Amino acid sequence: MKVPYLDLKAQYESIRGEVGDAIQQVLDRTAFAGGPFVAQFEKEFASFCGCSHAVGVGSGTEALWLSLLGLGIGPGDEVITVPNTFIATAEAISFCGARPIFVDVGEATWTMDPQRLEAAITPRTKAVIPVHLFGQTADMDPILEIARARGLSVIEDACQAHGAEYKGKPAGSMGDAGCFSFYPGKNLGAYGEAGAVVTSNEGLDRKIRMLRDHGQAKKYYHSLIGWNARMDGIQGAVLSVKLKHLPAWNEGRRRNAAIYDELLKGVKGVTTPKQAGYSKHVYHIYAIRVADRDRLIASLAEKDIQCGIHYPIPVHLLDAYKSLNLGTGSFPVAEKSAAEFVSLPMFPELSGEQIEWVVGEIRRNLGHSAVPIS
Ligand SMILES: Cc1ncc(COP(=O)(O)O)c(C=O)c1O
Repeated sequence: MKVPYLDLKAQYESIRGEVGDAIQQVLDRTAFAGGPFVAQFEKEFASFCGCSHAVGVGSGTEALWLSLLGLGIGPGDEVITVPNTFIATAEAISFCGARPIFVDVGEATWTMDPQRLEAAITPRTKAVIPVHLFGQTADMDPILEIARARGLSVIEDACQAHGAEYKGKPAGSMGDAGCFSFYPGKNLGAYGEAGAVVTSNEGLDRKIRMLRDHGQAKKYYHSLIGWNARMDGIQGAVLSVKLKHLPAWNEGRRRNAAIYDELLKGVKGVTTPKQAGYSKHVYHIYAIRVADRDRLIASLAEKDIQCGIHYPIPVHLLDAYKSLNLGTGSFPVAEKSAAEFVSLPMFPELSGEQIEWVVGEIRRNLGHSAVPIS
């Protein structure tokens, strides 16, 4: 049985009519760059995240970059984040002229270990970016407490966590800013590139709005040096349609994760993701850990089961960050997990039958007997 890692076509088929109508409206009004469809989505997404403002931008990377700029981060500053993230988190820091400083992640959660945060703070530290990896928020209370006590800004990298919760609070709503990617494969994905910053800080909202639009609040009266980082109208319209479906889609992912959890329970050699007690996980990625992951991925591929790796190399060991001189052994938990992660097929439309098939192949590969079908 063929099991894709992700099936964007299945989701598109379920909303084809609605999304087609929405795109047609943008075409009819020629509202292509920014404009009313982006503004409408911003209103809806701010409310979804429990924030008073949302600013639509061109990508999650821009959301992070403009948030840092908006908070006044610049050359000479240090920003603390984690090494097991997509490179964009660190790139945004570097693109402000600041230096990324990494702290290791927790063994059980794979997100920032708050106990290691304090030791990484220096007089140059200006901000902390916890990453809500795979759809689960970082343990925000201790992170916020340490950051607030030291006067540091907190930017949530919620690019993988649309609709996730921490103690009932929406991802993105707890820090000074929350940054989202709407890359097509995300839980809330555009039909192109897009991102957003959510915040309840009116001044920050205003500044990021200007930064994304060449530093202008009024056309051609540029008071800052900004950039062109506007969301386009078609993405705004598509995202408004898709946002209505997001809670059901997230429930579909949670249901599928529960099936994986159940079927993989007790399978020796497999570590399944843990939903922390504080968390509502939305399983953007369902990653397991296995020691010989290359062999497992190859054997699944032979059976037409597609997997991913997020991410094979932690950021501090990437060639792009060689200049930081952080060798192997700097962040042992992130390094070991990066060597063992296998992202299994995960999307709302994935069927129980497909999951049983995937787990059956995993068990066979690891030398277990067949999956007990309940
Ligand atoms: C954790 C994380 N941060 C940042 C980004 C960057 O988002 P984008 O690809 O929309 O620029 C991503 C997207 O893959 C991500 O997963």
